[in-house]
Amino acid sequence: MSDLADRLRALPGFPEHLPELDTATLPEDPGELVLAWLEDAIASGARQPHALTLLTRGEDGAPEGRTLILKDVDEHGYHVATSRRSAKGRQLAADPRAAMVLFWRETGRQVRLSGTVAALDAEASRRDWLSRPSATGEVDPDWQVYALRPERVELMQAREDRRHTRVLYTRPDGIWEHRLL
Ligand SMILES: Cc1cc2nc3c(=O)[nH]c(=O)nc-3n(C[C@H](O)[C@H](O)[C@H](O)COP(=O)(O)O)c2cc1C
Repeated sequence: MSDLADRLRALPGFPEHLPELDTATLPEDPGELVLAWLEDAIASGARQPHALTLLTRGEDGAPEGRTLILKDVDEHGYHVATSRRSAKGRQLAADPRAAMVLFWRETGRQVRLSGTVAALDAEASRRDWLSRPSATGEVDPDWQVYALRPERVELMQAREDRRHTRVLYTRPDGIWEHRLL
């Protein structure tokens, strides 16, 4: 065993006191729980609670992941923004299937979303570009806001006894259903 492996193993994991996910009162729509968890993460004061990993498929079909900032959540889904000319922009044009992963270490919570990404209209992209702290007057014509409409949402709440609670939401017929994993 390498020294690194020993040191990694000795690192602290989840915090000692974790919130509990009451599986008897789960909402019909997983979006409610995702938003509640996001609000908790914002309220905790943790840095970049809106950072997520976006997974796309590369040209050869292999997965590619990178960190992005969540810009909004609405009826279109979970918004992120990037250049259409970036690798991920080109990948999403070729195959709009994608996944997002959010992780909040302070509360031991993870959200996994997967579905299809749609490009929002030019006005949404223009507004996002202009709201960036580093924005100059000129709008980047390649800037694009995308929204992931999830078909599958898995929420995990870590537990002190390590028997983590996981709930999977799917909507096979357009209506959300969920089950414990
Ligand atoms: C915390 C964090 C937030 C980021 N947010 C964005 C973002 O909102 N949009 C973006 O295009 N890149 C963002 N990046 C950079 C991307 O992770 C990535 O390096 C870049 O977009 C190129 O990705 P691609 O080559 O897969 O297209 C962020 C990086 C970090 C570490």
